[in-house]
Amino acid sequence: MKAPLTDCLVGNDMKSYYDFIIIGSGVAGLSYALKVAEFGSTAVITKKTETESNTNYAQGGIASVMSPDDSFDNHLKDTLDVGSGLCRPEVVETIIKAGPKCIQRLMDIGVEFTRTAENNELSLGREGGHSYKRVVHAADLTGREIERALVAACHNHKNIEIFSNHIAVDLIAFDFEGRRMCGGVYAFNPQNQDKLTVRAGITLIAAGGVGQVYRHTTNPRIATGDGLAMAFRAGADVANMEFVQFHPTTLSLVGKKTFLISEAVRGEGGILRIKNGEAFMERYHPMKDLAPRDVVARAIDAELKNSGDDTVFLDIRHISAEFIKTRFPNIYINCLEAGIDITRDLIPVVPAAHYMCGGVVSDINGRTGIDRLYVCGETACTGMHGANRLASNSLLEAVAIAEIAADDAIKKFKSGEPPEPPEVKFPHPGKTNMPRERVIVIHNRRELKRLMWDGVGIVRTSYRLEDAAEKIELIRHSAERYYLTHSLSYPSIELRNMAAIACLIIEAASMRKESRGLHYTLDYPDRDDANWKKEMVMNLKGNCQWHDSMS
Ligand code: FAD
Ligand code: SIN
Repeated sequence: MKAPLTDCLVGNDMKSYYDFIIIGSGVAGLSYALKVAEFGSTAVITKKTETESNTNYAQGGIASVMSPDDSFDNHLKDTLDVGSGLCRPEVVETIIKAGPKCIQRLMDIGVEFTRTAENNELSLGREGGHSYKRVVHAADLTGREIERALVAACHNHKNIEIFSNHIAVDLIAFDFEGRRMCGGVYAFNPQNQDKLTVRAGITLIAAGGVGQVYRHTTNPRIATGDGLAMAFRAGADVANMEFVQFHPTTLSLVGKKTFLISEAVRGEGGILRIKNGEAFMERYHPMKDLAPRDVVARAIDAELKNSGDDTVFLDIRHISAEFIKTRFPNIYINCLEAGIDITRDLIPVVPAAHYMCGGVVSDINGRTGIDRLYVCGETACTGMHGANRLASNSLLEAVAIAEIAADDAIKKFKSGEPPEPPEVKFPHPGKTNMPRERVIVIHNRRELKRLMWDGVGIVRTSYRLEDAAEKIELIRHSAERYYLTHSLSYPSIELRNMAAIACLIIEAASMRKESRGLHYTLDYPDRDDANWKKEMVMNLKGNCQWHDSMS
């Protein structure tokens, strides 16, 4: 065990050193924790409660080839088709082939997936872009069931400590013998205002997505891109930031919180209609309502712009009420509470920001360009999703890469002692202006979310991107100044990260002069493989490099 460094300030509970430290308690962080904890002390830092994560809200399920009618080749083809030429095929193949093992591992941990009444086999759903039924699920509460089982298993592990209501602020990053190195995390505990410096042998970022940078999103409040922003500040490469996925169908009722209506509802026969009853998706794609998500989201956007209506409608009134209540109990109850009986009423729906396909560049082992820093889950860009993610492939990717990354991290951990950072200094000057000016942070957060929704949304133009860039750059400056001159708080830490992420999305979107996958611009409406079949990789030094795609 390492001795604490002299200027480490450590809170009541956290130790000054762990063999493995993990930022995030979603499916990626907890799956990895359960493996590495066999080999050393493991701390999980998580921003809110243990279960609060994108994972906890996942509905549709986890894609894996489970039926003899299906094949790995089919799943591979569907993933590459949806990824629009930017997936890394060898990564996709590895993850897809790991699918059945990942499902088994989750069941071994205690996850109870839905089984068929006929023969007690795993029930398989279908979603957009999939050519076969292959989505393993726990009714429409798949994420909650996975999170429940993982948290319980972590509680039962003697080497795992979970610190909820602790926020990671930045990584302890330094140069060592010509390499960039990670030696742990700077974190903040708002309950006692402690600034924590926690050293670690190996650090994993599994801090989830960025949906909160948009005004309308399926993501919970924790999804502010913290992991991505802190890895970028530490010197890691990020890629594919222009590819933000918008989910086509979220419940749209004035004054009600955004609530996802799973794509599995269309998988069971749900039909999208405009106000006059027309099933419009057949005008847009041969797969109609089960076309890839980008196509459906853009079709809805076009219909709304055309008609001036506020919503389109999802229709499942032709499906038996009994089936709906068993297959989608959570959606049924949530809609009922909002005044919509989905067995009898049309469901008003609009798209909302859902998933970040880009992220911190990592290889198939979850390694980043920074030594001793791993990444997995939604924060990572492994090459699995390319320019667009196939439905239910993200839980699969998170579990598969967490397993592989854990094996690699264990080897790294056993290979020798981590080097000492030359200095550890909390990345905040300690100025403690009381946060009298909170209104600035609240206003900026709201403004940023609106600007991103209006200017960097489903359909983009160069003019709108430029306008958003100018305005959000001002917010970024304001957020940074506030962060440095006021005592630490969740809102200021988050806004600093959200502004950094928004700038990266806009920069990447502005540079891609074509439309591909989730990036669609009216100025360059066609896909241009000759010039743009490339990933854009960005880093703190201001380098933007285009890497040719192999798919
Ligand atoms: P998360 O589950 O988001 O976990 C991130 C963790 O990091 C959280 O614990 C968070 O609190 C913590 N954290 C964040 N920042 C910090 C910080 N600064 N300090 C400390 N902790 C921090 N995918 C599918 O494959 N199938 C589906 O059916 C599906 N349905 C979805 C439905 C909804 C409504 C949403 C929002 C997403 C859905 N997705 C689905 C996507 C999928 O759920 C996520 O991509 C996946 O769960 C991400 O897992 P993760 O572990 O990477 O991140
Ligand atoms: C859904 O249930 O529609 C979400 C699935 C996903 O995001 O993969």
